[in-house]
Parts: sequence; structure tokens; C-alpha cells
Amino acid sequence: MKGKIAELLNEVENFNADNQEQIEAFRIKILGSKGVLKDLFADFKIVPNEQKKEVGQLINELKEKAQEKINELKSNLITTNDKVDDIDLSRPGYPTPLGSRHPISLVRKEIIDIFSRIGFTVSEGPEIEDDWHNFSALNFPPEHPARDMQDTFFVKSDDKEMALRTHTSSVQVRIMENSKPPIRTLSPGRVYRNEAISARAHCFFHQVEGLYIAEKVSFADLKQTLLYFAKEMFGEKTEIRLRPSYFPFTEPSAEMDVSCSVCNSKGCNVCKYTGFLEILGCGMVDPSVLENCGIDSKKYSGFAFGMGVERIAMLKYKVNDLRLYSEGDIRFLEQFKSAF
Ligand code: PHE
Repeated sequence: MKGKIAELLNEVENFNADNQEQIEAFRIKILGSKGVLKDLFADFKIVPNEQKKEVGQLINELKEKAQEKINELKSNLITTNDKVDDIDLSRPGYPTPLGSRHPISLVRKEIIDIFSRIGFTVSEGPEIEDDWHNFSALNFPPEHPARDMQDTFFVKSDDKEMALRTHTSSVQVRIMENSKPPIRTLSPGRVYRNEAISARAHCFFHQVEGLYIAEKVSFADLKQTLLYFAKEMFGEKTEIRLRPSYFPFTEPSAEMDVSCSVCNSKGCNVCKYTGFLEILGCGMVDPSVLENCGIDSKKYSGFAFGMGVERIAMLKYKVNDLRLYSEGDIRFLEQFKSAF
């Protein structure tokens, strides 16, 4: 009997399997209810008493070894299966987190889209400007008090006094100098003003300015163009209101309000109970500005307008603090995920 057990021990030690079925067959053969262990235990009764201890230990050893072997083969099988799963090339990829567009980019794009549908192109220029393009060509003579309207950051460059542009009207000067009418262009871009930072003011912001120069351009054209823009941007029912204003480079000049879309002009805290919101400055380009840029003011006339992108985005998305645009707070920015 000892010889038989030794044989079985040997068989158990050398056993190997490469699938679940083979392991199970082995388990049934050794440990099953009709397995070899069962027979051994049955034969154990006839083992002489003086050998019982030794033979009993051998049978138990066989039982433990068989169980260990089965466990070992099973766990090997699981890890090899896992490896196969790991390289399943048909599995879908892990989701990649998507970014969102900045509200300023969204509104900038929307303004450009609206004007491009009526033939405006886009032009860009430098953010560090000389005095001529930011001021002098636009009728701001040196020492003119109108320069105070635009708190300027000055920078020195090669002993030349330069400035961070205070508006993108500077780009329009460059366009007028370098092209011939008809001109119909938008100049979007970042501008800088030396202002204390608060919920309503920042030291940099974004503008989109527009310029149209051709023969016989009138104030009626300006009004109609801006009405079209207001309706496209804020809805078909939007009304506009022009109030006289002053800019050195336009004559006459005006500021434009749009009816408040939040309360339908009934009065609310967004429009401060006036029913209207100011969104842009505009006017007929002053003939002397045209002449400064080499355009014959007897033949050509034109209009210009300029708006702050932050302000329009504030109205559109009901943002109550300008600082949110530049703080990079993910909780603010991710709200615009679905907006494109
Ligand atoms: N450049 C003006 C500003 O920054 C806006 C403006 C542009 C006004 C064109 C009239 C015409 O305030």
C-alpha cells in the first residue's frame, strides 16, 4: 500500500494542466467521492495497527499535496487568462477628458461670424503700438485731454516711446494706410488699459472693432448694420438705441444700447431698471482721420464701431465678474463645454 501511495504522490507532483477541464478531471480522480483517496481510506481499515500511523500520515500528505497542486494550477490559469484579456485590441479606449472653449473665444467667433455674413473680413495688428497708430492718426494730438480717456501703459523700445494698444482702432489705421476703399473689415484683439482691477474693469480685455469705408456711406448704413448685428446676437426682437457721444476719431459719434433680453426691457438688475444695455461705441469716421491715412475724404466716407467682447459675453452668459475670465478656474470654464 505504501508503494501505491508513493506512486500517487509522484503522479500528483508531476501533474500539469493547461485548461480548467483537465484540472477538474484530476480533482475528481484523486479527491472525488469515487476517487483514489476514497479507496485508500477504505483500504486503511485493513492496514495492520503498527503501520496505521505511518500510512495515515502518507494518505494525508497525498490529500494535501493534491489540493495544493489543484490550487496552484488554477491560479496559474487565471493569470495567463488575464494576460490574454489585457491585449484585447477590440476593447474601446479609455475616455479622454475634453476641454472647453473659453467664453471670450466663443463670443469673439460669434461676432465675427455675424459680420462675415455681410462681407466683413478680419484683420489683425501688433499689441505694442507706436503713438501714431494708437493716437495721433486717430485725431488725438499730443497733450489732448481725450488721451486721458484711455489710461495707457507706456513701454520703452529702442529709445522709442511705445504703448500697449488701448484699442484695436490702431489696426484700422494700418488697414486704411495700406489698402484702397472699399474697405470692410473687423479687427478683433486684446487691448490694455491701466485700470484698477475690479468686477467691472480689468487691465486687459478684448475688443472687436469694425470699419466700413466706401463712396457715399451714411449714418443710416451704420444704424442698419448695427441693428442687424444686435438682432443676430441677442434675438430678433432686440431694439437698438443710439445716444450722442464723443470719440476723437468719429464725427458724429454715438454709443449704442440694446434692449435688455433678460427682462424684455421691463427693467431688471442686469439693465439697472432702464430696459437697455450699453454695448458699443460708434460713429462716422472723421474726415481728418481718412486724410491722415491717405484716403480722399471728398470721395470716401465711412463708419466705425467698437465693442468689448467681455461685456457682450457677460450679457450673453450672465457673468457678473470680469475677473472670472482670466483666473483659469476650471469650475467656471467647464460650464461652456456644450457651447460649441
Ligand atoms: N476705439 C473706441 C474705444 O476703444 C471704440 C470705438 C471704435 C468708438 C470705433 C467709435 C468708433 O473706446
